[in-house]
Amino acid sequence: MYTTQEISEIRSKVREWKQAGEKVAFVPTMGNLHQGHITLVTEALKRADHVVVSIFVNPMQFGQNEDLDAYPRTLAADQAALEAAGAELLFTPTPAIIYPNGMDKQTFVEVPGLSDELCGASRPGHFRGVTTIVCKLFNIVQPDVALFGKKDFQQLMVIKAMVEDLSLPIEIIGVDTIRENSGLAMSSRNGYLSDAQKQQAAQLKRTLDEMAAAIAAGQAIPNVVKRAEEQLHQAGFQPDYLAVRNAANLQPVSHNDTQLVILAAAFMGSTRLIDNLCFQR
Ligand code: PAF
Repeated sequence: MYTTQEISEIRSKVREWKQAGEKVAFVPTMGNLHQGHITLVTEALKRADHVVVSIFVNPMQFGQNEDLDAYPRTLAADQAALEAAGAELLFTPTPAIIYPNGMDKQTFVEVPGLSDELCGASRPGHFRGVTTIVCKLFNIVQPDVALFGKKDFQQLMVIKAMVEDLSLPIEIIGVDTIRENSGLAMSSRNGYLSDAQKQQAAQLKRTLDEMAAAIAAGQAIPNVVKRAEEQLHQAGFQPDYLAVRNAANLQPVSHNDTQLVILAAAFMGSTRLIDNLCFQR
């Protein structure tokens, strides 16, 4: 696997592959890779001849009091894992390469509406940072297909909306969440948790499962949400939001909606975890 910080090298390599009629898949990441990321690469290889990965801890998507500086940077281990998984090209730009004129003067991309609620309400500007960097990376790599984890369900919907709104010729694939045996969704931020907190945090998925079963059995959504919030408090969480939405558009649930998603964000200590569960009723 070849690693470069140079935009021009990424462009010329991808151009070469495309001129040979070969398909290119792209997996954007912020590094500190776990099995969830590796599964994205494995799925990418099923859909393309070449897999390009990026590692860039994007300052634009972090709020002022968030974990930008603490975010784990583990390049050597990431390179070894990506090489073993079959990725061929790794892009590791610096903030100066991505934002040469500084972030304040940077043109941005924003999906209105969808970006403002749930995680967007708790983290103002977060999705603008995500869509701006993903759009830039798409323009640099110019892949045929790009893969994202469904753990970031709202992010996936926002990126799909951006691609549709801007007519970008890229197929977006969502890949199922990979979990620890306990049910805890894999995340780079799990590394902030102690072993005891990891055990407690596994309650999040159990709560989502119980909520889905209760709603599918006909219980009223507000009652189910209230009970679940209490359960999360008891497990040591400080819930940020817990919401049940239409899975196709993230709108509030109306009477005849059948495909639903529960979305949750909750703090375990100072670590903010997110998870979600799609289900039918
Ligand atoms: O999901 C992530 O890791 C990031 O939000 C992404 C998509 C790589 C953009 O920085």
